[in-house]
This record gives sequence, structure tokens and C-alpha cells, in this order.
Amino acid sequence: AVSAPAPVPGRRGEPDGAVAEPGAVTIVVPTFNESGNVRRLLRQITDAVPARLPCEVVFVDDSTDDTPDVIRQAAQDCPFPVTVLHRAEPVGGLGGAVVEGLRAAGSEWIVVMDGDCQHPPALVPELVATGERSNAGLVVASRYLKGGSRAGLAGSYRVAVSRTATWLTKSLFPGRLHGISDPMSGFFAIRRSAVTAERLKPLGYKILLELAVRGRPGRVAEVPFVFQERFAGASKSSAREGFRFLRHLAGLRTSSPVARMVAFGLIGATGFLPNLAGLWALTALGLHYVPAEILANQLGVAWNFLLIEQLLFRDRRAHRRWWDRAGRFALLANADLVLRIPLIALLVGRFGMGALPATALALVTTFALRFLGTEALVYLP
Ligand code: GDD
Ligand code: MN
Repeated sequence: AVSAPAPVPGRRGEPDGAVAEPGAVTIVVPTFNESGNVRRLLRQITDAVPARLPCEVVFVDDSTDDTPDVIRQAAQDCPFPVTVLHRAEPVGGLGGAVVEGLRAAGSEWIVVMDGDCQHPPALVPELVATGERSNAGLVVASRYLKGGSRAGLAGSYRVAVSRTATWLTKSLFPGRLHGISDPMSGFFAIRRSAVTAERLKPLGYKILLELAVRGRPGRVAEVPFVFQERFAGASKSSAREGFRFLRHLAGLRTSSPVARMVAFGLIGATGFLPNLAGLWALTALGLHYVPAEILANQLGVAWNFLLIEQLLFRDRRAHRRWWDRAGRFALLANADLVLRIPLIALLVGRFGMGALPATALALVTTFALRFLGTEALVYLP
């Protein structure tokens, strides 16, 4: 019901009388242990926003410290409603928190911004005004437009990582990210009608990317901004978050069956590595090469299974237990091996094909069957 045009009365956590008017903005702020920042952020919002645009602020909090209490304290000095949604079970990390905030937001426009004062609230009215003026569904605050900068991105290492990630992401989604110079930004405005929460599968930091690629928000506009220094505390980003980002990218890129089949083939090809390594080790131990290869092949199967679970079928694992999925996948992989030789013999003997084209055809056929079998028998209920 997030896309309903009117504010939903009595929605969860709503303070008394906080029904936002049309043309108003809900500011959604994800927070994880930001007790040193939230008071300053609320003061900045108070100075910059309500005089130009009616607003409410919704914090979606996964903190383990006293951030919610600090927010409630500071909210007493605010001339606008402030809500804290504390999640007992944080799923999806930063992105999951933002989607929760999008669901709870009552206004026509929603602005998402960080809680550590790196995003200047003075830009909030401008983001909304730009969206209204250009009739856009999404307005991105970009560090890469003329007049914007990444001043607050500490260190050349983070700048290099950020630049590489942006380049990789833009090349993976040239169409959907057309006109978005900064798909990694965490600062943007989105129209309520452009929020398709039920379609989203947020995973970690890059929620704008999720909204732009999977959410299909319609027309997009951009406004430059200067990424400030973090005020207090440290970034919650980590190497683990980096891996999450790569999984997120893989999930977005393989949402169509054709893309998934290509990725399935590429992952399958990487299985040669553990397979060969296993064969080498087992024959070095003195095993005959036939049983050695049968065993080593299982190593490649296990490797492929781990990769497709993480990269391709992350959100389709709930139908079966892991050992059930692993068993079915291994069965399919070995059936592939057992089937291939008789199939080649059939194509050569019955249909008079040459050995090479027959092998090629058999490889393609068993690959397609294995892919379809994995889709239908391992990852469907
Ligand atoms: N609720 C919740 N749950 N909030 C979180 C979580 C979480 O698991 N992880 C981080 N946050 C909150 C932080 O408390 C902060 O308010 C905001 O999300 C951004 O987190 P930072 O840890 O400060 O991120 P950053 O500064 O490294 O990254 C920011 O800039 C990047 C561009 O360089 C974010 O805006 C990224 O989305 C952006 O890509
Ligand atoms: Mn930050």
C-alpha cells in the first residue's frame, strides 16, 4: 500500500497529529549507533527545511547504543514530527532499513539521507522542487555533477574504491542508470508513487541502486551536492559490506532468466579450477585417475553450488533445506556426466553426426537441461 497517494492514517509509530500534507516531505534517516550525530542533524534540518517545506522525520534505527533515546530527547526541540522505528530484527542492513522507512513515510515526497551529517539538509527542499519542476520520480543528489564533490570521502583508497564501484555498476546497467551520474549516492528524493516496495530486495548499502534498477522509478533528475566530512564516530562500511555489494550487483544483474543462464555457465566454467586441483592432488596421492576424477568432480560441484547459492539464487533458498538443495544439485551435475557419453554415442551412431559436433551438441544440451533442472527442481517449491 506504499504507492497509495494519500497518507495512511494511523500507520505504525506515527506521532499524534502527524499527518503530512500533500507537497510535504518525509525525511528517512537510517541510523546505526549515531548518538553523537543525530542531535546535530535534527538541528540542521530544523534550520533548513520547515520554513521552506513542511516535513516529518522518520529514523529507522538498528542501533545497539542509546541512539533512539538521544533522538527522542532531541525531538522535543523540533517543530516537526519525529518518529523512531527501532528494528528488533534488522534485515537487509542499511538498504532494508531504508525500505522500512519508505513503507512508513506519509508524504508525497520522501528524502533519504545519512544520519552522520555528511548530507546537507539545506538541499532537501531543492531536491523536492527539482522533482516537481521536472516531473521526475527520483531526484539524486550527485557528487559527480559540476558543483558537487566528494570532499568528505576520507582517503585516496576510499576514493579509488568508490570510483571503481561506480564505473563497474554503470557498465553493468547502462540503460537503467542512464542519466544517473552517482548511483552510489545515499542522498536522494523519491516520489511516493515511484516506490514499489514489494518489488525490492535490498541488500546492504546501495539502496539507490536497488530503487533505480529494480524499482523503475520513471523519470530521473539530479542535483549536485558536496559530500561533507562525517561529524562524529566512524563509517559502518567494511570489507564485509564490500562483499555484500558484489552479491547485490550479481543479484540485480541476473534477475532475468537469460542473464541467469549466462552467469550459471560462467560459474560452471570456474568449477574447472577446483576440479583440476583435486584431480592433481588425488593422483599425486596414488589414486587411479578414473576414481580420482569422479571424486575431484565433486569438488567442482561443491564449488559451483556455493557460488550459485550466493550469487544467483540467494533469495530462492527458503523452499528447501541446504542439504536437500545440495543433494539435488549434485545429482543433476552427475547425471549430466553420466548422460553425456550415451548421448554422444546416440548422435554419432543413430544420426550419423561427426564426433566433434555431436560432443558440442551434447554439451550444450546437457548444460541447458542442468540449468533448467537447477531452476525448477532445486530452487522452486
Ligand atoms: N538502520 C541502519 N542499519 N542504518 C545503518 C546501517 C544498518 O545496518 N549501516 C549503516 N547505517 C546508517 C549509518 O548510521 C549512517 O547514518 C548511514 O547509514 C550511512 O552509513 P555510513 O557508515 O556513514 O556510510 P558511509 O559514509 O561509509 O557511506 C555513505 O556514503 C556512500 C558514498 O560514498 C552512504 O550514504 C552510502 O550509501 C554511500 O554509497
Ligand atoms: Mn557516512
